Amino acid sequence: MSRDALAGLRVLVSAGPTFEDIDPVRFIGNRSSGKTGFAIAAAAARRGAETVLVAGPVALETPAGVDRRDVRSAAQMHAAVLAALPADIYIGAAAVADFTPATVAEGKIKKRPGSEGLVLELVRTADILADVASHALRPRLVVGFAAETGDLDANAREKLQRKRIDMIAANRVGIAGSGFEADDNTLHVFSADDRQVLGPAPKTELADALLDLVAAQLR
Ligand code: C5P
Repeated sequence: MSRDALAGLRVLVSAGPTFEDIDPVRFIGNRSSGKTGFAIAAAAARRGAETVLVAGPVALETPAGVDRRDVRSAAQMHAAVLAALPADIYIGAAAVADFTPATVAEGKIKKRPGSEGLVLELVRTADILADVASHALRPRLVVGFAAETGDLDANAREKLQRKRIDMIAANRVGIAGSGFEADDNTLHVFSADDRQVLGPAPKTELADALLDLVAAQLR
């Protein structure tokens, strides 16, 4: 068997959601299960890559041979990903919160008699993917994900350019059998001069198919 193109390379993967705390008992999260990122990390390790997995809060086993670093918030994920550089390849499969509460209340926020609403102030989080792509230690290949409910192609191509990344895997969310929580998915993978559709297939198979595209792009 020929040596895999990823063997010996350092592959950094982010996976899962982030949880942004509001007070000691509440947070803002999202529906990401982490299955895709974990499947990619498992496949990369099987192919002989030195694999680091920065994981948000998920209920998944650590894949064999993977160096896992658990985080909770977008800010923690940002720090853990940058601390894991240098890497040959970064695959940002995490569903990172775009906004986080401006402050975390010290005590549990109480219902106030006579007040029917509550306004939370949210601030933008740092874009991990864009920061990796513009880093002095930029990996040779930076791959992003896009979970879309609207125009998949236009949004994916726009992100590819704006975030200055090499490849983006877009998928539909909000429909049965695709995207978050599901075991199967379809990935529309865009690079500067290519467009491929992977699946529909189990996320474990899609992980290997995506790594085949990554390996081809490295050559
Ligand atoms: O812009 P959007 O959030 O749709 O882009 C998704 C891609 O960007 C994913 O690869 C995700 O991991 C990454 N991202 C990030 N940091 C953020 C927001 C998104 O790395 N704060």
